Amino acid sequence: MSRQKQISPTELTALLRTHRCGELRSEHVEQKVVLCGWVHRIRDLGKLLLVDLRDHYGVVQLNMSHLTDGAASRCQREAVIKARGTVSLRPAGAAFDDLATGEVEVMVSEMEVLGECQGADLPFLFDAEVETKEELRLRYRYLELRGTRSQDIFKIRSAAALAAREFLAARDFTEIETPMLYKPTPEGARDYLIPSRLHHGSMYALPQSPQMLKQLLMVSGFDRYYQITKCFRDEDLRADRQPEFTQVDLEACFVTEESIQQLALDFCQNFFQLPNLPMPSLSYQQAMTFFGTDKPDLRFGLPLIRLSEMFSKLELPPVKSLYEQHNASEAVGIYVPRQVLAFSRKDLDELMEGIKQDYPQMLAFYAKRESGGMLASGISKWFTEESKNTLVRTTQQAMDIAGRWVQGSCASFDKSLDSQGVWLFMAHPNHHKINKQADLIRRMLAQKAQLAGATKIALGWVHSFPLFEFDEESGEVTSAHHPFTMPKADRVQDFLALDPQALSCDFFMASQSYDVVCNGFEISSGSIRIHREPIQRKVFSLLGMSDAEIEAKFGFFLKALTHGAPPHGGMAFGFDRMVMLLCGIDQLRDVIAFPKTTSGSCLMSGAPHNVSDEDIRLYGLKHK
Ligand code: AMO
Repeated sequence: MSRQKQISPTELTALLRTHRCGELRSEHVEQKVVLCGWVHRIRDLGKLLLVDLRDHYGVVQLNMSHLTDGAASRCQREAVIKARGTVSLRPAGAAFDDLATGEVEVMVSEMEVLGECQGADLPFLFDAEVETKEELRLRYRYLELRGTRSQDIFKIRSAAALAAREFLAARDFTEIETPMLYKPTPEGARDYLIPSRLHHGSMYALPQSPQMLKQLLMVSGFDRYYQITKCFRDEDLRADRQPEFTQVDLEACFVTEESIQQLALDFCQNFFQLPNLPMPSLSYQQAMTFFGTDKPDLRFGLPLIRLSEMFSKLELPPVKSLYEQHNASEAVGIYVPRQVLAFSRKDLDELMEGIKQDYPQMLAFYAKRESGGMLASGISKWFTEESKNTLVRTTQQAMDIAGRWVQGSCASFDKSLDSQGVWLFMAHPNHHKINKQADLIRRMLAQKAQLAGATKIALGWVHSFPLFEFDEESGEVTSAHHPFTMPKADRVQDFLALDPQALSCDFFMASQSYDVVCNGFEISSGSIRIHREPIQRKVFSLLGMSDAEIEAKFGFFLKALTHGAPPHGGMAFGFDRMVMLLCGIDQLRDVIAFPKTTSGSCLMSGAPHNVSDEDIRLYGLKHK
């Protein structure tokens, strides 16, 4: 993936050095070289002073034994030095096999310290065996970035950005930059606001995405747009979220959902360098039913078995009373074959306890399946023949259906119910909560059993998300993707006739929106857009906006839709998340040069900083 640029000799004369540390080989023997880099390691063996010198390209050994001017004391670890000397072959049998430059060393005749390092003051050494606290690593992020792991990550990131550009440019996409100082873009988070010095009381909002602007570029006739751009969102941070992150954002005119799906697959195959990578397609409702989440990890099976109806007939006392108290109770099962994970009694009891601790109202219990038998456990007496048959049938169905989407090598274990195993059952009055918990349990089991195994990347195309979502507590309606998403083509007339009163938790209307999921992360999201003004206006009003509010926030955009807007659609790839997956790591912070903490601060610089009285006056802000 990494393309190392060869520096030409003419360019080199302009530099402080003649060679890069990592490039010296036996063919350089006898050559006079000047190297610059960081003192990586020092071995002072009395008469012998050996220093490993490191730069971005590698490490080489310097032999400084011939320096007589107190070199050892000036050569502090992590100081930046310049060394002049002659390349020589290491004695036969003494080459360092673990170093690319291991055949040679440089006999140093002159050494100059270019950048001091107060060795005693170094907060940590990035290659130290002991683990350094994250807080300290973030405070001195520039030191952490010196490590080979970080240097490699950012080389991969840079090559991936270049590959993405080349991929899109080859398909006629034009890169266009859009402003950072702008109006709010509704993507479901809070905005970062920038007060205006010239317009007291007014603020710019940093873009949560270039959504409206890329649509306006389609109205401008650009046909295919892309941009690798920063987006800013003030929201609760998680391991896979940063307040400022990068998207590979794209949009195109006259496209269908199928053409975007094909583009997304080609993009991902190119990005992950896996030309045969599949991307099975499943609807939002299928994802929720079989995995309890809209971003299922398809490296393994363990599908959810929907058992609400069967449980409603069960005589098992706690289940019976749950159903009597809450007539809309939900029940799911997960079948875990013994080949996948063998539980001890203690494991199972702890698992059940854990589930109940997270959700006190949750009923959690299990039943074992022995060879040939259906249920071998204390509770089997509560299962009628009919319910046992339903359980086996529903389990097999779930495995068969989900098996079509699962790409991992362990999928075969899942396919047959012949094996022995354990059913884990959960029941709860609230379907959101049970889905959330079942998803967690599924992922946790897979991690425990190392089910992802050798499957590095498993993609999925999740489509037909609902147009709206409802907050059960506040009753508030929001867009499931964003308000620019088109309803399904055959529902547009129904949509235009929709009465706002009809919007309730039970309301579902599918939209032309889609996500790409990868190993349980959402890596891309998009939709076919609304390009007709009355439909767009209707969405805003269903979201509870008054005409005046619509005009103030989106008047300019609605106007553009009346000036000849082509049908269009697109998506945005979460570049940081994709790089994280490409590097096989699970922390977004590691792939961002200067990341923020979960509370949105930069420990290194202290951002955000306190605002001065002078700024408060200048920007027309008021103290609390
Ligand atoms: P969405 O909000 O789903 O869609 O974002 C697109 C992709 O960006 C990534 N992402 C993030 N990555 C890191 N930190 C975050 N806080 C974060 N938030 C989102 C995810 C996500 O899939 N304008 C629409 C796209 C479109 O419709 O074309 C949008 O921004 O990988």
